[in-house]
Amino acid sequence: MKSMVVLVSGGGTNLQRIIDCIGTAEIPNAEIKLVVADRECFGLQRAEKHGIKNVIIKRGKNFSQKLTDVLPENTDLIVLAGFLSILNKEFCERFPGKIINIHPALLPKFGGKGMWGHHVHEAVLKTGEKESGATVHFVTSGIDEGKIILQKSFEISPNETVESLADKVHEVEYSIFPEAINMVLKDY
Ligand code: GRF
Repeated sequence: MKSMVVLVSGGGTNLQRIIDCIGTAEIPNAEIKLVVADRECFGLQRAEKHGIKNVIIKRGKNFSQKLTDVLPENTDLIVLAGFLSILNKEFCERFPGKIINIHPALLPKFGGKGMWGHHVHEAVLKTGEKESGATVHFVTSGIDEGKIILQKSFEISPNETVESLADKVHEVEYSIFPEAINMVLKDY
């Protein structure tokens, strides 16, 4: 049985998707041992509802150390599912190839500091991109710079808004995140 820890900061619909996929065995032989949030958020309630251990570690200087302290032994994969704090270099280097993130655009475009949530979609529309999508990638100390695991795109329509784009990106995320998790877990 593979063991995951999921990190969230928001609504946690991707967390919910992972929980559901474990339930249906679309993600087979895996469990979420712990959900960590860096603030009060609905993602924590989702964990609670499904009987998954959950904890808040407020963002701040010692965040990465505190996270290390609560990580269950033998964690196979750390999954960032809408997590807005930065993990420090030491943490990223301690778990090479074991931390993955989902990003709401087609990296390497529209990544890096400040590129999260609606900021990403606004930038995509402003630049007049023809397509957007989502990317699952390994986490390294460079923000959004780790190796890409899986990416899926769609065409932007002429009347696209930040909201409609966010909805489309979420749908893509629900399809590629479980697949990427399976790809990575298979290699352990
Ligand atoms: C997703 O769009 C993800 O790409 C980004 O944050 C959002 C989280 O959404 N990193 P949710 O909390 O899973 O609904």
